[in-house]
Amino acid sequence: MSAGLVQAAYIVAALFFIMSLAGLSKQESARSGNYYGITGMTIALIATIFSPDAQGFAWVIIAMAIGGAIGIFYAKKVEMTEMPELVAILHSFVGLAAVLVGYNSYLEPPVAISTDLAEMHAEHVIHLVEVFLGVFIGAVTFTGSIVAFCKLRGVISSSPLNIPHKHKWNLAAIVVSTLLLVYFVKADGSMFALLVMTLIAFAFGYHLVASIGGADMPVVVSMLNSYSGWAAAAAGFMLANDLLIVTGALVGSSGAILSYIMCKAMNRSFISVIAGGFGQTVVISDDQEQGEHRETTAEDVAEMLKDSKSVIITPGYGMAVAQAQYPVHEITEKLRAQGIDVRFGIHPVAGRLPGHMNVLLAEAKVPYDIVLEMDELNDDFPETDTVLVIGANDTVNPAALEDPNSPIAGMPVLEVWNAKNVIVFKRSMNTGYAGVQNPLFFKENTSMLFGDAKESVDAISKAL
Ligand code: TAP
Repeated sequence: MSAGLVQAAYIVAALFFIMSLAGLSKQESARSGNYYGITGMTIALIATIFSPDAQGFAWVIIAMAIGGAIGIFYAKKVEMTEMPELVAILHSFVGLAAVLVGYNSYLEPPVAISTDLAEMHAEHVIHLVEVFLGVFIGAVTFTGSIVAFCKLRGVISSSPLNIPHKHKWNLAAIVVSTLLLVYFVKADGSMFALLVMTLIAFAFGYHLVASIGGADMPVVVSMLNSYSGWAAAAAGFMLANDLLIVTGALVGSSGAILSYIMCKAMNRSFISVIAGGFGQTVVISDDQEQGEHRETTAEDVAEMLKDSKSVIITPGYGMAVAQAQYPVHEITEKLRAQGIDVRFGIHPVAGRLPGHMNVLLAEAKVPYDIVLEMDELNDDFPETDTVLVIGANDTVNPAALEDPNSPIAGMPVLEVWNAKNVIVFKRSMNTGYAGVQNPLFFKENTSMLFGDAKESVDAISKAL
């Protein structure tokens, strides 16, 4: 393939990636968005593998076959609830790849394009800076993503790590790395400086994510998504690959926008979250029970639903765990057939990944037009007869609005308690992800329906 053809293919691939992002922004077009992405990536791979300066064709094919087989195996095996962990670990691969590309590019610098001595020197300096920054971003992304993976999997505690003077340590890491960069360039590429910086960046990435508490994890995952994009863009600069720069920048900026949106949804300061919980006060979470709770049965809930004119269902992580979306769709259809208005209220961080609930409901074929965002229906709860809180907890916790000392204080929530009746589907009085007790469970208009969400919804469906 000629160099011109490769460039043309890269432009086409970049356009497909942009169309893919545009498609993924709406549920109706998400499937075609995925296909655009796949097409773009196929074009990109073919153009790269057959480009004039590509070498080691056999190695590339072997690596792709092994990587592809592992990828297909895990993608088939992974449960929807484990998706955030998978995404986190995949980000760590991008980070590690950027570190390896950086070292490789340092040991085997590219051939200078210019023949002018001054220009050759400038090119060399730029290359050294690219290597240094690429390795730094990659290393931070690598360890940060591994910590995020371990927190999401529950291997390490999701509560924030609080070492004394934590922000000073972060600042020191940045200052020392900057000084090392100056030394690295001045010394015309010192392996020692590169290695020391890599170790600092590994520790920095670990500390940055370990310092962020459980309830802010959604932002961390999208932030690492953004970092992995910048790491890929940095690798693109080192390899002088325009498409990798464009793709990395697309992922980096869309991840940053998503993090910003999630911060707004959770009423968190973007800067404070990306700076590793900067400015956060540490609050001890309270998981004590706060009074008496009432219990109900599936049959009683079915009766209550039949007597209702309007119903709102607010799903959460428990619906995903129980895979209750199918029977939920069933009861929705049964109620709608009886002329009852049924809608879904989706909190921006319900579940464990952005859009988690929307994906599950779409999978069960719940019509999109009755699935509404929190802001679209939060004012409608006072006129609602029955709310079914299916496996949600933190996202319907009134403490977020009423208790300034709560770890989730300030986070907007679905104000379900304003409805006439609230039924909470869960297995016990245990807390949700943020580890705080939920005063909703003890309100007069709330009844608990204990048990696995799928079994409970199935029982209601039968009774209907
Ligand atoms: P959570 O607060 O996590 O609560 C889920 C509830 O589901 C639990 O209290 C649990 O209670 C119940 N549950 C679990 N398995 C169940 C089953 N099989 N049947 C019935 N109930 C079950 O859920 P949420 O309201 O969706 O809030 C999400 C939380 O995750 C937020 O704190 C958010 O910050 C965090 N988070 C979100 C994301 C994204 S991007 N969405 C990423 C990381 C973290 P029992 O154990 O008593 O059953």
